[in-house]
Amino acid sequence: MMNLAVVLPVLAVLIGIRFAKPSMLGWVTAWWLAAWVVLDFGFAVPVPKTVVKEFMGIISLALAAYVTSDPQRWREVREPTTAFLTERKFLPLLVLVTLAIPAAVAASIYFDMTAPAQAPIFGRTVHPAPPATLTVHEVTHDMQTLDNPYRKLEASDPAAFAVHVEAGRKIYYENCFYCHGDLMQGGGMFAHALNPIPTNFQDSGTIAMLQESFLFWRVSKGGPGLPEEGGPWMSAMPAWENFLTEEEIWEVILFLYDFTEQRPRALHVASGGEGH
Ligand code: HEC
Repeated sequence: MMNLAVVLPVLAVLIGIRFAKPSMLGWVTAWWLAAWVVLDFGFAVPVPKTVVKEFMGIISLALAAYVTSDPQRWREVREPTTAFLTERKFLPLLVLVTLAIPAAVAASIYFDMTAPAQAPIFGRTVHPAPPATLTVHEVTHDMQTLDNPYRKLEASDPAAFAVHVEAGRKIYYENCFYCHGDLMQGGGMFAHALNPIPTNFQDSGTIAMLQESFLFWRVSKGGPGLPEEGGPWMSAMPAWENFLTEEEIWEVILFLYDFTEQRPRALHVASGGEGH
């Protein structure tokens, strides 16, 4: 799409120049500038600078061919140019132009080199909202009330709890450390090939902020289960429901918290029925 706010004024100026009958030099300069303004600013979608430069090269050649193909036109361009370069009265202007050209080149290089080399920002939500219900191995859970069935053993039966944590350790080092790393810092051997990188569970901004039900969702459904806002990249996190039982998923979650010495975020259950 053309950007009419730029193209129409340029057209108006060119039509005006046609009636003003300027010198050949003025005419060539006006056309050259008009072509540049239209190419650089006249399109709704920005044209790459290299393409603009290429087209301006072609346009300069075309204008030069037009001017030099006729002795009369050529004289009209050559004579004022020679005068400008040789006559004393133009000397201050000539000095200015002589300085301005290298200055413009230097400035252009400077701005090209100092352009920030940062990737554009994409709005990826690292912890998107989970679904309301979650079906794993044909059992449907309500995400509001879902909790780790082994968590209560931590207080009531520490020995039994330790057995589940130990099982989780085995599951972690058989399945997860390739990506999430030996120390759960996200630096596993596959980590650097992935975008987004595997989550660093030692970071207090990850599992410490989350409920165990959220982890259960993420571990069972993986990258494929992420909603749109988890994009724009494809997460390589596998859907572990395809490889692990529900029990194993809860166990590896226990181990994530145990190893990192983080606490899961408490479950907010509507306190219906309590105190009756
Ligand atoms: C192939 C590499 C890979 C393997 C293996 C892997 N993960 Fe992941 N995991 C990722 C990536 C990449 C992310 C970050 C992107 C995302 O959130 O999906 C992630 C994210 C997660 C999250 C989300 C954390 C958060 O803060 O939202 C959890 C929980 C998780 N992984 C647990 C596990 C567990 C448990 C295992 C082993 C059973 C495992 N992962 C194995 C690649 C992997």
